[in-house]
Amino acid sequence: AEKKRARMVAMNREAALYYMEILSRNPHSLNYLKNRGIGRDMIMAFGLGFAPAGGDQLLGHMKEKGYEEKELFDANLLSYNEEKNHYYDRFRNRLIFPIIDRKSRVVGFGGRVLDDSLPKYLNSSDTLLYKKSRELYGLNRVMKVSDRSRILLVEGYMDVISLHAAGIGYAVASLGTSLTREQARVIKRYGKQVFICYDGDNAGLQATNRAIDILAAEDIRPRIVVLEEGKDPDEYIRDYGKIAFEGKLNRGLSSIEFQVQNLEKNFHLEDAASLSEFLKGVTAILSKVKSPVERDVFAKKFAETYGVRPESFEGEIRRGNMKRP
Ligand code: CTP
Ligand code: MN
Ligand code: MN
Ligand code: MN
Ligand code: MN
Repeated sequence: AEKKRARMVAMNREAALYYMEILSRNPHSLNYLKNRGIGRDMIMAFGLGFAPAGGDQLLGHMKEKGYEEKELFDANLLSYNEEKNHYYDRFRNRLIFPIIDRKSRVVGFGGRVLDDSLPKYLNSSDTLLYKKSRELYGLNRVMKVSDRSRILLVEGYMDVISLHAAGIGYAVASLGTSLTREQARVIKRYGKQVFICYDGDNAGLQATNRAIDILAAEDIRPRIVVLEEGKDPDEYIRDYGKIAFEGKLNRGLSSIEFQVQNLEKNFHLEDAASLSEFLKGVTAILSKVKSPVERDVFAKKFAETYGVRPESFEGEIRRGNMKRP
């Protein structure tokens, strides 16, 4: 298995170099990247590439290099057509984002279409080398350029690259899938202060809620940044720049504040019955705060914000009336 793994490392590296070479000679995709603010420096830093459309170019190149169809298939570089009984390039006509692990090995790939066709992204499935649940996109770059005082968790490839391009060298992506405990453990090792900035849409809010719980299980208390108008970090930083974005991070909410602010949207606080229901929800959120002192501080703060007595929360907690998560 060790030998197989080493061979897959070499194979992936060869494929990544091939895709890079194709990109360097492909004005259309270079132009696409340029229009998204990604120039030569970031292309090199992240090893971006392009997969040709034909369906057998990578295969041909890799055969020339001495690799066999079956092992290329096992590395997820090829797909297999049962009817025609033949192998063909898995990534076709897509921008390529190599996924590079902490040991600087290319372990997998993501590929994005250049137009609106679907699926927008195609990713490697798990292989001998790649365990999706363990990797964080951009981490190898973060290790090179950041001082490890912070780490910022975002959703996607383009968010990471765009942030790095703007000088935010501590962004990593969980790559769409919801954050896993293994990723949370890695995050814990790499950043003293953890920030989450997922897309400012509904999916992003849901994913943030899940990430908060998973990070909490590792005793990580992230600061949360919510971007307005459904923007994602890539769009935000390109519209407003680094200073505005770092300002947002510095004003980031605690998990508790985020959850309460999020909950508030579902209620009409000028209506007494609705307010009462909302307060129950706040109590449930507060009940997750382990430290009594901290719980008290938040209870006072929310009491002030919503014009009620702090005891309305504590009382509920003591009587055990609130829903435990
Ligand atoms: N994703 C995926 N497959 C999809 C859609 C999304 O794997 N069909 C993952 C990708 O890692 C993507 C991330 O989820 O980067 C976030 O998705 P989304 O917000 O839709 O894409 P963006 O990263 O914003 O991509 P872009 O800006 O290029 O549209
Ligand atoms: Mn060749
Ligand atoms: Mn999204
Ligand atoms: Mn985007
Ligand atoms: Mn997005």
